[in-house]
Amino acid sequence: MLKDKDKLVRSYVASISVDHRLWRYDIEGSIAHVRMLAKQGIIADSDATKIAEGLSSIAEEIEGGRFQFKSELEDIHMNIEARLFEKIGSIAGKLHTGRSRNDQIALDMRLFLKEETKRTTRRINDLQLSLVELAEKNRSVIMPGYTHLQQAQPVLLAHHLLAYCDMFQRDIDRFYDCLERTDALPLGSGALAGVAYPIDREFLAQQLGFSHISTNSLDAVSDRDFVIEYEAASAITMMHLSRLAEEIVLWASSEFSFVKIGSSFTTGSSIMPQKRNPDVAELARGKTGRVYGNLLGMMVAMKSLPLAYNRDLQEDKESLFDTVDTLNSSLEIFAAMLKTVEVNARRMRDDMEKDYLLATDLADYLVKKGIPFREAHGVVSKISEYAQSQDKGFGELSLEEYRRFSRSFEEDILSLGMEDSLAARDVAGGTAPRQVERALERIREKLSSLKEER
Ligand code: ARG
Repeated sequence: MLKDKDKLVRSYVASISVDHRLWRYDIEGSIAHVRMLAKQGIIADSDATKIAEGLSSIAEEIEGGRFQFKSELEDIHMNIEARLFEKIGSIAGKLHTGRSRNDQIALDMRLFLKEETKRTTRRINDLQLSLVELAEKNRSVIMPGYTHLQQAQPVLLAHHLLAYCDMFQRDIDRFYDCLERTDALPLGSGALAGVAYPIDREFLAQQLGFSHISTNSLDAVSDRDFVIEYEAASAITMMHLSRLAEEIVLWASSEFSFVKIGSSFTTGSSIMPQKRNPDVAELARGKTGRVYGNLLGMMVAMKSLPLAYNRDLQEDKESLFDTVDTLNSSLEIFAAMLKTVEVNARRMRDDMEKDYLLATDLADYLVKKGIPFREAHGVVSKISEYAQSQDKGFGELSLEEYRRFSRSFEEDILSLGMEDSLAARDVAGGTAPRQVERALERIREKLSSLKEER
């Protein structure tokens, strides 16, 4: 009976099925720790060497798929330590001198997230590159710009795509900002109060590539802000991705028909042979909810934890790993999918039903003739009503018809076109081709300098 209970508890508290993913960082941290112990004369050099060699060979075993993770050994730390005992005997017991699993897991998580954060930003860069390439391929394509999902003013498709590039740039900046706080070494905090050996934390930080060390042991073992920050930054990035997904779903519909997604990124319907469904985009939109949920779950898990370490913290991994994987795969597949997108420029243009999107430009025309904007707005809304009642576009009205609404209209109003509307918006950040060209150049430059850094 007791045996069953033991089993029940053991399997409940075990985390190896999830945290085995941290093995590389766990071993890296242990090797640095044992080197530091030897350097400080806390253990003998020869012991440290044996331990480090044992750990390296365990790493090889895991790498080669020859390591057997055991749930009765609870977590990644104990699995590796137990194997070390098997390999080098009782000297293995010296590894855990001046260390606790509490600062060990905090270390592993930070090492893991430092690497993942950099990988995430590279993935976002790849997506930006796909957006830029799509924009460059369709440099002169004009599309209806929307507000309230109503056609508002013409914009360059490239301008629209670069809007997403800007969003993703903020995401990258956000991830780098989190990284600064993730980059603190917690090791040396012990279980909660620090350790009673003359350890060298600066040396550890330097060995493990941390820019600084944590300054309060209680905080260091119980802090998971860096996990939450990564999850929050991921949630925002997924939100951006989901907005892009939504536009792709809309644009690929037969009602819009603005784009066609490569057939490898759509699926057919089992009963309706004519359909090509944008499943990839839909799934990214759907997965965004799960990534939000992961963030919220972690926030809730943390909210009532007293200092310092509490076992609740073990629950940080499953959702974090899920977020890491979901975000990375979504970024990767979007970068690939965008490369297959074909734009139907004709359809975008034809879709600007009549040319009512030029209403603001008509008003601007009158303003240039000295009419106050509010008044000009009133005049144009009357012209709009009239044109619609006649089922005519602005371009189909005669000068005589225009002049019925304002004597300020002259011959040149008849040649007003989409291109004039775009060119007029020649402000920094505007859709004028000159501005968009510059924006493209700036982003190109940034992306290619990053490529070299990698
Ligand atoms: N598996 C634990 C975790 O992920 C490691 C720390 C456990 N510490 C302890 N004293 N039980 O948080």
